[in-house]
Amino acid sequence: MNQNDLKRLAAEKAVEFVPENEYIGIGTGSTVNFFIEALGKSGKQIKGAVSTSKESSALMAQYGIPEVTLGDVTKLAVYVDGADEVNHMLQMIKGGGGALLNEKIVASASEKFVCIADESKYVARLGKFPLPVEVIPHARSLVSRKLLAMGGQPELRVGFATFNGNQIVDVHNFPIDRPVTTEDEINKISGVVENGIFGHAAAHVLVLGTAEGVKVITPGH
Ligand code: A5P
Repeated sequence: MNQNDLKRLAAEKAVEFVPENEYIGIGTGSTVNFFIEALGKSGKQIKGAVSTSKESSALMAQYGIPEVTLGDVTKLAVYVDGADEVNHMLQMIKGGGGALLNEKIVASASEKFVCIADESKYVARLGKFPLPVEVIPHARSLVSRKLLAMGGQPELRVGFATFNGNQIVDVHNFPIDRPVTTEDEINKISGVVENGIFGHAAAHVLVLGTAEGVKVITPGH
């Protein structure tokens, strides 16, 4: 099985975690695209879904999944999204697609975060994947110098603007041993809008596509 097969396996299994007659949140990325397709084809009835990107919205429309905004709802029963890396505590690096701020907002509005991924994303320590940091454009140099002082190698994502009109600095070679602490320290830098460590918003369940089949993993197991 190739990586896409494993993503699809996880995405299809995750449909079981979606309760009927509730609102849900839907993330962004290629694994989520498989999830949207599987949810649409499952015939499961949900009240609606909050999307985190134009790409996910377009696919939801194609599969007949009704879209709502965060302003329309008071709670989301579940949030389903992929990750760039996820550790055994189900803390993650996200934002490879640049939608980290929307993803963190929708995740924080949800009662349960179900992360879907293929086994290549499951790591012992976060940080091999460059950490995305969303910055206010005119603060970019200042923020980059501080990230350098923290031990990382910041690099501007050239030619990219976030949905909110900000820039992304990807921090390379930045091993993250204490995800929650590092998440907070980066967010304290003036000019940082959000960073891609999901330590506070760790997943509750990881549905992992592996060569031996799909595994459902809870934090610490
Ligand atoms: C989007 O900004 C990211 O957080 C995605 O969740 C992440 O990049 C996973 O993408 P794939 O499912 O395409 O690997």
